[in-house]
Amino acid sequence: AGLIDPLPEIADICERHGARLHIDAAYGAGLLFSARHAARLHGLTRAHTVTLDLHKLGWQPVAAGLLAVRDHTEAHALTHTADYLNADDDTEAGLPDLLGRSLRTTRRPDVLKTAVTLKALGRTGLGTLVDHVVAAAHHLARLVDAHPALELYDTPTLSTVLFRPTGASDDTVATIRRDLLTEGRAVLGRARMDGRLWLKATLLNPHTEPGDLAALLKLVEGHTPR
Ligand SMILES: Cc1ncc(COP(=O)(O)O)c(C=O)c1O
Repeated sequence: AGLIDPLPEIADICERHGARLHIDAAYGAGLLFSARHAARLHGLTRAHTVTLDLHKLGWQPVAAGLLAVRDHTEAHALTHTADYLNADDDTEAGLPDLLGRSLRTTRRPDVLKTAVTLKALGRTGLGTLVDHVVAAAHHLARLVDAHPALELYDTPTLSTVLFRPTGASDDTVATIRRDLLTEGRAVLGRARMDGRLWLKATLLNPHTEPGDLAALLKLVEGHTPR
């Protein structure tokens, strides 16, 4: 809940003040695929524009960022033409290009891989993957909570868990993270919350098993000075 619950409230405030609302749902929008979790994004559709990255909870290779607009006239800028780019006779002759479809003209058609994934897995297939990583995050959070030498920041809202060795200094937390990374053992992020540095485990691999999560905590424990 946390970050996501106030969406309708924020939308109300924007509406009252005539402000535009853009929501960066690069990571969170993946919940929309999940029948179990989609309702947690209640209010998202009231944004004028929403960004979502399917190279996060969508399992696409980078780049797969999307801009969703509530009203199609928001995408009006795409109809801008320039003589040096647009040749009407070529367009009429059916020559393919991304003009009118993308802000990026000389680029790969990145949407193709997304279309293939949606065709292959469908929305429910992607939703199953989302459910799996969210469940893995909750499992990791429970393991941390039950661990006598680790502190959990909070119950996860997406698939990210913040935790730290109890009583460790910020320098120790930073060193643990760097050592695990440089030794090639684990890729953890870091985040500063409530004035302290936390290890950040972002779970995006749908094949993660409970044993992998226990092994991760063992690694952190083994790198924590006594
Ligand atoms: C909410 C949010 N916005 C933006 C970004 C940046 O995404 P990218 O590096 O794909 O541009 C991230 C990356 O984690 C994110 O979580």
